[in-house]
Amino acid sequence: MEEQNFYLETIGHATDADRDMVETLFFEFLELEHLYESASEIVKTQLNIYDNEFSMKFQRNPIHGIESRIKSPQSIVQKLQKKGYPLSAQSAQKHLMDIAGIRVVCYYINDIYAIAELLSTRDDFKLVKIKDYIQNPKPSGYRSLHMIVMVPVYLATTRKEVPVEIQIRTIAMDFWASLEHQLRYKTNSIVPDDLRAELHELAGTISQTDLRMQSIYEQINEL
Ligand code: GTP
Ligand code: MG
Repeated sequence: MEEQNFYLETIGHATDADRDMVETLFFEFLELEHLYESASEIVKTQLNIYDNEFSMKFQRNPIHGIESRIKSPQSIVQKLQKKGYPLSAQSAQKHLMDIAGIRVVCYYINDIYAIAELLSTRDDFKLVKIKDYIQNPKPSGYRSLHMIVMVPVYLATTRKEVPVEIQIRTIAMDFWASLEHQLRYKTNSIVPDDLRAELHELAGTISQTDLRMQSIYEQINEL
């Protein structure tokens, strides 16, 4: 009900036809939620399988934690409006690749690439986009590996290909990104230049630390 009211507010007027349209949209979005939730569960299950297999073979987990979220109908509508796309479930499926988002936090940098390789070489998942913000950090200093993977979801009568955005990063990268995100949110994105420069510098320091931890791990492994 709350969501239906939200759609009505979004379109700003409410004739009977509008109400019908909103009701249709509401049910379409419920289906969308189920579809993306299912795709997300499939990827998370697979990630846990890799993590457990690795732990069994090498007595170490590459994955520290997994978080996930499904974009809320509010955010979907806002993003479609912002980008000038039509407001429909079909349009959301076509234009938004991050309705299902999974964040994988790894221990070491090499674990990130190992997980990415495993996810992108399966014949059921299709890699459609990869952005390496570790090799090429964002201007903010942000680092992570981003992938969009198409995941097959088998429903009762059809099979759907569903995009899932996977962000893979180390604990250190996650620490920086979480705090920086919070700070930007606190200031409504207007972080003063000097503080932005300092955050950028800290991202570099954190990256150096990640590389040194990786090196220590490798040296200890060789003992
Ligand atoms: P969107 O339209 O925002 O999805 O842009 P995009 O498709 O180009 O995606 P991009 O690869 O830029 O990644 C967007 C996501 O990465 C965001 O939702 C954040 O989770 C994360 N991200 C990107 N840049 C930053 C940053 O500077 N700081 C933090 N904390 N997170 C970032
Ligand atoms: Mg995004």
